[in-house]
Amino acid sequence: MSASGRPSVFVSRIIPDEGLDPIAAACEMDLWRDELPPPRHELLRRVAGRDGILTLLTDRVDDGLLDAAGPQLKVVSNYAVGFDNIDVAACARRGVAVGNTPGVLTETTADLAWALLMAAARRLPEGDRYVRAGKWKTWGPMLLLGPDVHDATIGIVGFGRIGQAVARRAQGFGMEVLYHDLQQLPDDVTRPLGATYLPLEELLPRCDFVSIHVNLSEETRGLINATTLSWMKPTAVLVNTSRGPVVDQPALAAALNGSVIAGAALDVTDPEPIPMDDPLVGLDNCLIVPHIASASRATRAKMAQMAAANLLAGVRGEPLPTPVKPPA
Ligand code: DGY
Repeated sequence: MSASGRPSVFVSRIIPDEGLDPIAAACEMDLWRDELPPPRHELLRRVAGRDGILTLLTDRVDDGLLDAAGPQLKVVSNYAVGFDNIDVAACARRGVAVGNTPGVLTETTADLAWALLMAAARRLPEGDRYVRAGKWKTWGPMLLLGPDVHDATIGIVGFGRIGQAVARRAQGFGMEVLYHDLQQLPDDVTRPLGATYLPLEELLPRCDFVSIHVNLSEETRGLINATTLSWMKPTAVLVNTSRGPVVDQPALAAALNGSVIAGAALDVTDPEPIPMDDPLVGLDNCLIVPHIASASRATRAKMAQMAAANLLAGVRGEPLPTPVKPPA
């Protein structure tokens, strides 16, 4: 609590006003205004003595940060649906509530996954570079050929909210929808989406497109690796909007170079930002965008509202509207 009696909070980046305004109205807010995240030492310094912290996926919340914050800390509110940056068990041990922003970014993220799929399939970045390089001389019967998206087979790996939203889009393109998840989902979920469950080793060889929507966990780290890539068709396109470490990047670069698969489109990499000397950066058949899946104005505003609501509930000792459950 600050000298004014209002809760003291640290907000680790500028987020839309829909979030900042209610926080500033109710709390003593220390806002990190840089475009880049606070360096670790600065983050640890700025969280000291706070009642609440609003974090981004670039801020690692672990025992070190919780120690630096102190025992009065009540809540960590993550401005993201993913929370792999947070040691939720460590927070739970200290009675620190954790919140995230599920639901509001589902459709926007599925839109971007779809945009990546379309762009990679129809080679839009290559076409754009071709035009800007002054190479467009005539209509070419063999120019920039790619696969059809309509009527193709898509494999959705991770069939939660976002995976299902991608499946709905695939229906509009007349695609066969296959999915893989830790377990088969009930028929009332999969039947309206026309989605069929398959084990990964059976799904990957059948798909023209594979879109990844799993959470990052020890089970999913490196899920797409040299072995699983070798199960895919040489014409297949991989789309990843989940988390970078789900894909073994050196293995992906080798697969793209060696025509094991045809293309990839990544919203996420490991690390982020991807180093300019990463082999993927030099590949024409790999499209990379800077983790923008949720980046629509409306969605980022809704995420800000939710993150603020979690933060404010937490500092007041109330249940969070959208809490992250500690591991069992
Ligand atoms: C998330 O919310 O987890 C995204 O990766 C960023 O919006």
